[in-house]
Amino acid sequence: MPAVEVMGTQWGDEGKGKIVDYLAQQADVVVRYQGGSNAGHTVSVNGEEYKLRLLPSGILYKGTYCVVANGVVVDPKVMLEEMDAMEKRGIDVSGIRLSNRAHVVLPYHSLMDGLSEELLGKGKIGTTKRGIGPCYQDKAKRIGIRVCDLMDKEEFRKRLKENLQIKNIELERLYKHAPLDYDEILKEYEGYAERLRPYVCDTIAFLNDELAADKKILFEGAQATMLDVDYGTYPYVTSSHPVSGGIGIGAGVAPNRLDTIVGVVKAYCTRVGEGPFPTEQLNEVGEKLREAGHEYGTVTGRPRRTGWLDAFVVRYAGLLSGIDYMAITRLDILDGFDEIKMCVGYKYKGERLNEIPASLKVLAEVEPIYETFKGWKQDISGIREYKKLPEEARVYLERLEEVSGIALGIVSVGPNRDQTIILADDIF
Ligand code: GDP
Ligand code: IMO
Ligand code: MG
Repeated sequence: MPAVEVMGTQWGDEGKGKIVDYLAQQADVVVRYQGGSNAGHTVSVNGEEYKLRLLPSGILYKGTYCVVANGVVVDPKVMLEEMDAMEKRGIDVSGIRLSNRAHVVLPYHSLMDGLSEELLGKGKIGTTKRGIGPCYQDKAKRIGIRVCDLMDKEEFRKRLKENLQIKNIELERLYKHAPLDYDEILKEYEGYAERLRPYVCDTIAFLNDELAADKKILFEGAQATMLDVDYGTYPYVTSSHPVSGGIGIGAGVAPNRLDTIVGVVKAYCTRVGEGPFPTEQLNEVGEKLREAGHEYGTVTGRPRRTGWLDAFVVRYAGLLSGIDYMAITRLDILDGFDEIKMCVGYKYKGERLNEIPASLKVLAEVEPIYETFKGWKQDISGIREYKKLPEEARVYLERLEEVSGIALGIVSVGPNRDQTIILADDIF
């Protein structure tokens, strides 16, 4: 019953899509269990690039089931657009399964996401404005609309009416925005319901049956540890649980069913949106990382903030999620650097900290403790064996293993499926 998870250890965009796509070669089912269309996962195969937001990155394999589980907040418009775009490129989407318990993103969610950010002004979170926070808020408030409600004409009409009444008061009084039209939303969403109906099922039963039948399941985390609503840099986080514990809640697969957890670690760090980022480089190093790595957001196109690898954060991610192996990505982006730094811990007011501080004020003021490594100054994108990597690169990676306490499992040296070095042969 192998169940494997791939999750982000930093602030997102580590290259989870690439690693999921690689491992999905062996999987029978790939599952998204949290987040929504705030995710942007890029997969490159034979020079073709696919950008996925809601669909699991296993979609490129014919015959692989792709599950959007109950913990995901689903914007039906985005999901259908993605499915259409895939079909246009000749990709079979018949293996998609959508949970009847997943919450539905409605037009007022995305609208209020943007309006709330405007209202926060300087204190904004820097969200993707995809309605993620507002949809999870409705879920916690117990007024959300789920896929099973969307599939039930009568229930959907009733719930939409009730919700829109409240939302329009909020829109008009709090945000001074024009109200939204019930009939328009109803018509639009009834159309989505009919198109999505064939894919809807009880994914809890589906996944547990697959496990019982000894099928291989791959869970695809979106966002990352430092964006987790409990463990990240709150309030500059997303509204879900990207840590491995999120699977129990978001997919209905019990924690003791998971066999292997792979934490994806970008060889340096990036962050989109606001919030503390201790190893950020607001200088020419940061610029060089951004340009070498083309670090601009997949979903919003925003320039990503850049900095050195924070091994102290990776260690924290490992503890929280029980990570068995690291998958290092984008090591090739460091090819041109004379010198590379890695943060191995933090100091606050001159004292070394043992843990990541909860207080953002403290986190914003910590002083990273860096170790400096010699760059390898050569193109590593064609290397396929670990021992053939330049010694300087291996020294860097092995120090990361020591500081994080997590074994190296995969090293990625380019965006393509074949630009992958496997050290751990027991992931599945
Ligand atoms: P995700 O959100 O974690 O799936 O990551 P994104 O897809 O947002 O960003 C990662 C980017 O890096 C994508 O454009 C990938 O195609 C690319 N990528 C992944 N692994 C590698 C790698 O090892 N080297 C290079 N150069 N690019 C990579
Ligand atoms: P993937 O899966 C990077 C960030 C946003 C913002 C915060 C809250 O591609 O790694 P939200 O719209 O979720 O309410 O925004 O979280 N964020 C991401 N940053 N990668 C992502 O996804 C992200 N999803 C959300 O930039 O700071
Ligand atoms: Mg991304």
